[in-house]
Amino acid sequence: MRYRRMPIEVESPEQFGYGNIDCNLAESSVTDGLISDLGINLDGLVLMYGDHYGKPELRELIAAEHPNLQPDDVLMTVGAAAALFIVSTSLLQAGDRLLVAFPNYATNIETPRQMGCEMDFYPLTFDNGFRIDVDDIASRITPQTKLVSLTCPHNPTGSMITEAELMRLIAAVEAKGCRLLFDETYREMSFGKVLPPAAALSPSVISVSSLSKTYGLPGIRMGWLICRDKTLMQTFLAAKEQIFISNSVVDEEIAYQFLARKAEHLQRIRQHIDTNFAITKAWMAEQTDFEWVEPQGGCVCFPRIKPDSGVDVEKFYKLLNTIYKTFTGPGHWFESDRAHMRVGFGWPSKDELSRGLANITQALLAAKD
Ligand SMILES: Cc1ncc(COP(=O)(O)O)c(C=O)c1O
Repeated sequence: MRYRRMPIEVESPEQFGYGNIDCNLAESSVTDGLISDLGINLDGLVLMYGDHYGKPELRELIAAEHPNLQPDDVLMTVGAAAALFIVSTSLLQAGDRLLVAFPNYATNIETPRQMGCEMDFYPLTFDNGFRIDVDDIASRITPQTKLVSLTCPHNPTGSMITEAELMRLIAAVEAKGCRLLFDETYREMSFGKVLPPAAALSPSVISVSSLSKTYGLPGIRMGWLICRDKTLMQTFLAAKEQIFISNSVVDEEIAYQFLARKAEHLQRIRQHIDTNFAITKAWMAEQTDFEWVEPQGGCVCFPRIKPDSGVDVEKFYKLLNTIYKTFTGPGHWFESDRAHMRVGFGWPSKDELSRGLANITQALLAAKD
């Protein structure tokens, strides 16, 4: 395994310094939570090693999402990031073939690629509406394919599949004897029907999620994977024990108390996303140099500067970042053309979002030849 830092991490707002940014449209989560707003009480917490699977009551809450799930199907991890690493390194070896959506959240590609896997990219393109065509994906599974890896709602585009499509994909994966990694970190942020946790639908599926995105708690680094295959779960647990043994009991306690009041938090969060999504849609409708595929879930979209707009893309970013102190996630974070950018509309307040979007319009105008 080789490690190299990915641009999305090197250039992330937290590394760049939040103080250097006026309008932050580069995030892929809702607004970060303030611990004093969450009603958390950590009195009496013993700072011991936790249960290696994760706090049982916390896993119970997560498993309660679906009648097919038991607490022992859930393994708590350090963010979804560690869950993805555990899944890749447990299921794949150098030379193994992986069918993975492209673009994607960078780790979903980087870890298997650096392990030396044979990468079969399934392209999601602007011209195809970033559509995840599950029948097409299913037809591309070969006898060598070990793993199919999808993110839904998708980062950076916000595209989704339906439950019926998910069922067809699972049937294909089962028939071909491989497994499905379903990164559902944005699951509860669907604008339409929320999909069930995919792992509840088949032992061939591994779901990955966390409290970072929908709930804006990336600082407690609480994620999980769900898998009903007991043998595989032992391998995942072994991987976890070799990397970090158990989670922070402080993080787990915060996550537990937070999730115990999940409905209340979700209502507040959904209102914020609805407001900011409406602002983004209204702004997008007025753009002449910018076009998008409207997302179906999550809190990001992946618009692009129109190819015939006459906008100098590099000049645009320079003006946007230095003059307007506004940040988006440029296309190269996703190994894509820099005319594309991820715009995160869930993190900023509605005022910061409105100012940031207006700054994009100004920078586009000023960057025309
Ligand atoms: C699709 C997806 N999966 C996983 C992660 C990792 O997030 P975390 O480790 O904070 O849960 C991210 C972060 O951006 C993501 O977008």
